[in-house]
Amino acid sequence: MSNQASFENMAKLDERLRHIAFIMDGNGRWAKNRGMPRTAGHRAGAKTFQKIAKYCADRGLRAMTVYAFSTENWKRPKEEIDAIMDLLEQYLNESEKALKEYSISVRVIGDITALRPSLQQKINALQKRTEGNDMILNIAINYGARMELCHACEQLIGRGVTKVTEEDISNALYTAGCPDPDMIVRTGGDYRISNFLLWQAAYAELYFTDVLWPDLTEQDVEKAIQAFYSRSRRYGGV
Ligand code: FPP
Repeated sequence: MSNQASFENMAKLDERLRHIAFIMDGNGRWAKNRGMPRTAGHRAGAKTFQKIAKYCADRGLRAMTVYAFSTENWKRPKEEIDAIMDLLEQYLNESEKALKEYSISVRVIGDITALRPSLQQKINALQKRTEGNDMILNIAINYGARMELCHACEQLIGRGVTKVTEEDISNALYTAGCPDPDMIVRTGGDYRISNFLLWQAAYAELYFTDVLWPDLTEQDVEKAIQAFYSRSRRYGGV
């Protein structure tokens, strides 16, 4: 949706929808359907990611999270892992101008110490350079929600905390300071959470679509947004 006017006429997102998290599934199948290697699916997926991030920023979303590489994804063939890491590095190298234009602040969530040093350096540098921009863009890399919770517990133990509040845990997660996701969108037709934002998703609306991630359009995101507003969130109340 390159035409700005097309979303400017839409109702503005309000406080009910501050954060959308995406499980970007279906890259492999998208490539297979075209007789292409899986890595081509990830390349197409990386383009879709950039398009959707711009759209979310234009729509005034306060935060967006994408699941780019899970702690379980290390089980994939080395060639595929390397290709995903290369795409991430390429994004870190080339995205600064767009991040400035769309006022996006990048935060990587996950254990980045397992990544190659060049990637770690670029992550740290880009996080610093984009700090304070309007929309938070969390990119989950080497991320697993259970691991994140273990890490948070260790932080609290290290600080000598003995009485733990929900706020203590939220503040010890990688997403500290970011509102919890109001909606989690999973592409690719499966109905799973796959160890993603387990704590933060406590009250998130879940939205599943059969569309494969590389095919996801701004209109598909708009459909999810409209579905979100048609639901009634009661947070356990009536
Ligand atoms: C899941 O689809 C996708 C991934 C594990 C990788 C997602 C990575 C990208 C979209 C590129 C990331 C780049 C940036 C810049 C964030 P799958 O491979 O499991 O698909 P399948 O279920 O069809 O096999």
